[in-house]
Amino acid sequence: MKNTRLLQALNLEVVDVPPVWLMRQAGRYLPEYRALRAKAGNFLTLCQTPELATEITLQPLKRFDLDAAILFSDILTLPEAMGLGLSFQEGEGPRFERRIETLKDVDKLAIPDTEDALNYVVKAVQLIKKELNGRVPLIGFAGSPWTVACYMIEGNSHKNFINARKMAYQAPEVLNALLDKLVIATTQYLKGQILAGVDVLMLFDTWGGLLTPAYYRAFSLASMQKIIANLKSDPATQHIPIILFSKGALTNIDAMVESGVQGLGIDWTVSMRQMRERVQGKVCLQGNLDPAVLFSTPQIVQSTVRDLLNEWGPHPGLIVNLGHGIEQHTPIENVQAFIEAVHA
Ligand code: CP3
Repeated sequence: MKNTRLLQALNLEVVDVPPVWLMRQAGRYLPEYRALRAKAGNFLTLCQTPELATEITLQPLKRFDLDAAILFSDILTLPEAMGLGLSFQEGEGPRFERRIETLKDVDKLAIPDTEDALNYVVKAVQLIKKELNGRVPLIGFAGSPWTVACYMIEGNSHKNFINARKMAYQAPEVLNALLDKLVIATTQYLKGQILAGVDVLMLFDTWGGLLTPAYYRAFSLASMQKIIANLKSDPATQHIPIILFSKGALTNIDAMVESGVQGLGIDWTVSMRQMRERVQGKVCLQGNLDPAVLFSTPQIVQSTVRDLLNEWGPHPGLIVNLGHGIEQHTPIENVQAFIEAVHA
């Protein structure tokens, strides 16, 4: 591997300059992405065609001096492969044909064979690794069981996921059965990504922050912990560092540290310095610019990055990123300024 900054930071080693990448770095703010999506017809086709997923993964690396690539895919390809029938309506987000309401619905879900139903992901990882040729590490990922369950129960991404939150109180046995099945399916899926060649894994728990602290630990963190324990106890997968990102749930950061991951994603509502003091150098932290700052000017972006680096100080274990995915209409010159300011 030529650029090992990300792996060094996750290992809590001293790095020449901090590694930087962006959540959703391959996406709609890039005209070359929009052109390829128009040609393919829709988003899911991009995910399910290894050659296209490879081209899109590499698009931001052609423009910017990024320290990581992230597999172009989606957290909802797993429930799609479990049998729920997924589509993405233009401007409307994801929609499932079938929703999870009862134990019977959970029983009907398949545990997909990664080599079969999700083979397009394995193929994409292999192709991307070949194209990268050791330039930077490749990040694989999955959604957290709770976050994926939110979409499976709701059927779409509307209304604060009130049906998923209600289920935690009204029918916790259904929610737990669903989460347990997702733990098994996600473990297999991530193992498949590792065997295909990813260098780092990230768990996206975008909706962990919708839960009370006690319910976050009982439903969201507990199911992620099972996946982490599964991967860390398997000699074929235990060497791969894992980053856990529970947006809006950092009141639980002490419990997150105990989960056995190497990195934690930090959103922009807290200070990196405070979070660094809380974790006492036990894990690497990744974050945490407000994606909205990329709508300002290159000068403001630069000074925001400088503030972040000053606030952090000389300590190891920092990956610079946004606190959530890059927004659709972000000006590209500000992305450029962001990455250059981190490396300057
Ligand atoms: O980061 C990357 O560049 C890798 C690709 C990636 C995508 N989705 C591509 C995508 C990753 C890591 C994700 C994760 C994902 N997907 C999450 C967790 C992270 C987060 O952002 O909170 C979630 C909740 C999803 C589910 C999802 N996918 C939603 C709700 C939507 C529609 C809303 C939206 O932003 O358009 C998507 C679609 C999606 N996934 C797009 C991309 C580039 C946009 C599709 C398009 O219109 O071209």
